[in-house]
Parts: sequence; structure tokens; C-alpha cells
Amino acid sequence: MDDNFPVKYCENPFALKEGRSAAVQRTFPPGTARLARSFHRQLPSYKMSPLKNLSNLAAMLGLGGIWVKDESQRMALTSFKILGGTYAIYRVVKSILGIGDEEEISFSELVSHATRAKLGDLTFAAATDGNHGRGVAWAANALHLRAVIYVHKFTSQARIDAIARYGAEVRVVDGTYDDAVRQVMIDAEKNGWQIISDTSWEGYEDVPRWVMQGYTTMFEEAQEQFAGQGIVKPTHIFVQAGVGALAASAIGYYHQLFGANDPVAVVVEPDRAACLYHSARVGDGRPHTFSGDLDTIMAGLACGDPSPIAWDILKDCVDVFLSCPDYVAAKGMRVYGVPLDDDPFIVSGESGSVTLGALMFIMELDELAGLREKLGLDRNSQVLLINSEGNTDPNHFRRIVWEGANPVPRAYRRGYR
Ligand SMILES: Cc1ncc(COP(=O)(O)O)c(C=O)c1O
Repeated sequence: MDDNFPVKYCENPFALKEGRSAAVQRTFPPGTARLARSFHRQLPSYKMSPLKNLSNLAAMLGLGGIWVKDESQRMALTSFKILGGTYAIYRVVKSILGIGDEEEISFSELVSHATRAKLGDLTFAAATDGNHGRGVAWAANALHLRAVIYVHKFTSQARIDAIARYGAEVRVVDGTYDDAVRQVMIDAEKNGWQIISDTSWEGYEDVPRWVMQGYTTMFEEAQEQFAGQGIVKPTHIFVQAGVGALAASAIGYYHQLFGANDPVAVVVEPDRAACLYHSARVGDGRPHTFSGDLDTIMAGLACGDPSPIAWDILKDCVDVFLSCPDYVAAKGMRVYGVPLDDDPFIVSGESGSVTLGALMFIMELDELAGLREKLGLDRNSQVLLINSEGNTDPNHFRRIVWEGANPVPRAYRRGYR
């Protein structure tokens, strides 16, 4: 198998075979998803994102169903990330105002002048690859508060503009996403800013936990949508990961609901930023840094340091970690954009599409028959994917979808029947 093989995998040596994960109980105590969703329901532009069924593609690949939770239109921000940033800011404001866990405040109270006056000159700060920062900027703007967002030097102008549109100050850090995280810690400490981070570190866990709780709105919606189709739960879930917060939220949500009967869970990362896959391979049960310049087209997944609180959940609940080259995501984008027969069309960005690309290679390549079998992927499988972003970077999007950048290497192309 050469270095550029589409899917490298590592079975999780720590996956719990029975019982409940204590890390899941800590982060997603019962009722968490209901609370997050009742907050999001109040946001002016909230509506459920669609769960799309790629039934023709599923049949072609030998699967029972491929269900895509399509976040490409979420509240006009083109990614799921706004769910985490808004919910974390809501929880931070509640805690600054001394409002207890059991007491809720409405969105209109949250954005009222009275609340603004009580909060004083609060500034929110965040590091981002683009999407999280946009959500934080949106929420700060709604609260009439200042936001300072740190991006790394490879962030495209389109992503920077999308953050600045909500009135946030954008600072470019000469380094990677992980360097931007370190810089925001230093500057926030110096200036007394409130960090809203999607990743955690020692002594900083509440906010990233709220971010992860905010993401559960997606899965609470998905369960309602599955129920409408007569499906109790997906049999498999493939989730893409940067620091691992989204994956931990998806997988933790299902573990909380179904315990040891939860869906088979697969985490997918770019091979140039595969910090969770790498941590599983090191095999000492701890999160490890993936070093390098993290140079991948999957900008949202370009993270070298796992979030420790996400890792704690993933370590207990993931079945297999995958690492994939960029062309796997590019293939996913094109397949979503040019669906089979009357399957629905989906706009998917580089970080949104890698799970579909990986699933296709797993189902099609002879070399991956063993993995297929291990995962139990067959005609009875109902697979849940998350299209975590739409067209968040129009230039890159066109380069791939229109001009065919990042093609599948000849050796891994399959003619279609
Ligand atoms: C579009 C998109 N998908 C997935 C992710 C991965 O989320 P996490 O960093 O929580 O693993 C991100 C993170 O920014 C993202 O922007």
C-alpha cells in the first residue's frame, strides 16, 4: 500500500465493548441536547437543517442508505459551527450574570440592552480556521459586543472577509491553527478577554464543553428526521475531525442515547493533519500532537493538537480512525455536486466532503474489503454523514469542482458500472 493510498486506518485499541463512557456522562449529561436545541430554536434564522438521502448512491455502493445531515445552509453561515459558538456564548453570559444552570434566559433577553449594560466592555476572542470564528463574530455582533478573531497565515481572504463582515477584528498569526490558539491565550490573558474556543486545554474546559454541547442540536434534529423515516438510529456514523469536538459531539450524543448499542463510529482526518489517528496509533491512551505544516485543502480539519476533552470521548467510543489524502475530499465534493440519478444535490466544501469520499473508497476498493467487513458495512447499513460546510471558500471550491484540482490518482480510479 503506497503512501498516497486513499484510506489508512487504525482500529481503536481503547474502544469500550460494554457499559457507558464516563467521559460522555461528564460532557453530555441527560437533557443536554434538549437544552441546546431549545436555545437554538429561538435564534431568529433557526431552522432544522435537512437530512438528505442518497439512496441511489447507497444502492450502487451496496449500502442500505446514506443519510447526509446537510449543514451547508445553517443560519446563513454555511457551516454547523454557529451552533457551538452561539451556545457557548449564551452559557458564558449566563455564568457572568450569575444565572444558575436550571434557569434559562431567552434569546431576546440575551441580546437586550439591559444585558449589554450588565456585561460592560466584554470582548470575546477566538482562534479559528474560519468557520468557528464566523460563528463567534456573529454571536458577538448580535450581543453588540466586540470580538477579536485570530486566524493562521494560510487562511484565505474569503474566510477572513466572512468573519470581518460581522464586525469582528481579524488578526493573522504567522503560523498554523495551533499557533493561533496559543496566541489567543496570551493576548486574552493580557487584555482580560473572554476566550470562546472550540478546543480545550488544561484548566480551560467549560467553554469547549459548551461548544460541543451546542453541536448536539444537529443530532437531536437528525434523530427526529430518522424517526420520520421509520429508522431508530443510523447503524454507522462517519465524522470528520480537526481537534475532534464535532466528532466527540456526534459520537457522544449517540453513545448517551444507545450505550453499547450505539452506531459504529468512524473518524476521518486529512493525512497531513491526522492528530487523532496518530494518537490512536501511538496507543498509550493519550492525545498526541501531529507535527508538520498541516498543509491540507481541508482547512477546517487542519489541526495538529487534539482537544483533550474530545479525545477522552473518542478514545472510549470510536471504532476506527481513518487518515485520507486531499483527493478523497475533492472526490467527495464532486460526487455531492453531481449526484446519481435523482439523489439530491449537495454543496459541500473540502472539510464537509471527506467522509463521503472515504466511504466510497471503502466500499469500492478490493484492498479495503477487510475494513468493510470489520465495520459491517453492507446492504443493511444506514450510514450517517455530516456535510459540515458548504461553499465556504469559493475560489478553492471552483478550482476543485470546476477545474478538477486534486484528482484521484489513476491507480485508484474505478470505472462505474
Ligand atoms: C467545516 C468543518 N468541518 C469539520 C470541522 C471539525 O471540527 P473539530 O475541529 O471540532 O474536529 C471543522 C472545524 O473547524 C470545520 O470547520
